[in-house]
Amino acid sequence: MNTFTYNYPVTVYFGEKAAEKNLPKELAKAGETVMLAYGGGSVKKNGIYDELVSLLTAAGKQIVEFTGIMSNPTYEKVQEGAKIAKENNVDFILAVGGGSVIDCCKIVSAQALTDEDIWELEYGRHGTPTRFIPMGAVVTAFGTGAEMNNGAVITNTEKKMKSPLWGSFYSFAILDPAYTMSMPMKQVISGAFDSLSHSLETYMGSPREINYSDEINEATQRNIIRNIRASLADPADIRARSELIWAAAMAENGMLKIGKVTDFQCHMLEHQLGAYTDFNHGQGLAVLHPVLYRHMMPEANKQFARLAVEVWGADPEGKTESELASAFVDSLAAFIKEIGLPTALSEINISADTDFRAIADTTILTGGCAKKFTADELYEILTECL
Ligand code: NZQ
Ligand code: ZN
Repeated sequence: MNTFTYNYPVTVYFGEKAAEKNLPKELAKAGETVMLAYGGGSVKKNGIYDELVSLLTAAGKQIVEFTGIMSNPTYEKVQEGAKIAKENNVDFILAVGGGSVIDCCKIVSAQALTDEDIWELEYGRHGTPTRFIPMGAVVTAFGTGAEMNNGAVITNTEKKMKSPLWGSFYSFAILDPAYTMSMPMKQVISGAFDSLSHSLETYMGSPREINYSDEINEATQRNIIRNIRASLADPADIRARSELIWAAAMAENGMLKIGKVTDFQCHMLEHQLGAYTDFNHGQGLAVLHPVLYRHMMPEANKQFARLAVEVWGADPEGKTESELASAFVDSLAAFIKEIGLPTALSEINISADTDFRAIADTTILTGGCAKKFTADELYEILTECL
């Protein structure tokens, strides 16, 4: 175990009717003007919007809407939200959606209280914002675990960068499995695969000796794999859905990261691929992971071999470490295919004309926990993914 401090600021309300039961007491602590932020309109079709508006109205709040937050939210959208918040003296932000809405609002909450450009503050002067409009999250699409942390992934179209920005933690997160039942199955699977990826990226960090966090992580991975299969077998299985929602939260609430430095190289590469192609995050990860992991051998063999046995059920009898490591990557690749996620960039309309050189050259190179990659090797990986 590395040295750590654990502090967790988000109150989680999980389960049936979580909004109805808990939003009134949270809203009682908030100021009068509430920004209701959401995406492209799914909340209006599934009734969540109407339910939240009636809870806000009953609490005597004045509602200011910030709508149309797109998947892979842009920095321009952040500025639009900040302008609305400033002009209306918003006291509290209620973000309703998946990772995109939840991330966008984390930066809106900071940008609304300063004239300083947040991107410039974080990437130019290496500072972080210190003042935020308080916020609550209502999760309607799970997977990213964005409601559990203060990192936001924002696309700066002008700079052609999809990068992490540090914003505010939510005061609370409402996780009602019923709210996610209208998610398209494609999004359920890509979201859950994102959670599996977060667990893997954390596991592949350092130190490479397995610690307590890694053992919880192995259980999280087994749970996600099992419940993806259960959700595919029965899309109406709310029990499987509820397991996936909490596994997504666990993968990003810091618990699995305790005592570790994380890896996240696959994520950094997918984010830059997203900056150039605006592609679905979980689907992009599905294509990249097996190829990138083959490039992590033999350096990562020890961790891969353990995953083969502990997560994928391989029999270690008579097998070498490198055979087990290969078995893990094969199992992961076969699973991606089995659950209908893409296995090549060409399947998701990303062609050889894409500027892979620029993507590789602008990808953040992470600490290199199992292996330190170079931009040249990331370029090779991208071309192999075609
Ligand atoms: O916009 P609406 O109409 O609401 O539709 C959304 C969107 O099209 C739809 N949706 C959401 N809830 C629904 C629903 N449709 C029907 N019923 C519901 N209940 O789902 C679509 C996808 O939503 P989105 O929020 O874009 O997906 P996701 O949660 O996967 O978030 C992706 C973003 O999060 C970032 C990604 O890079 C990407 O920008 N990430 C954030 C992380 C973080 N902050 O910790 C970690 C991740 O690694 C990730 O990078
Ligand atoms: Zn992710």
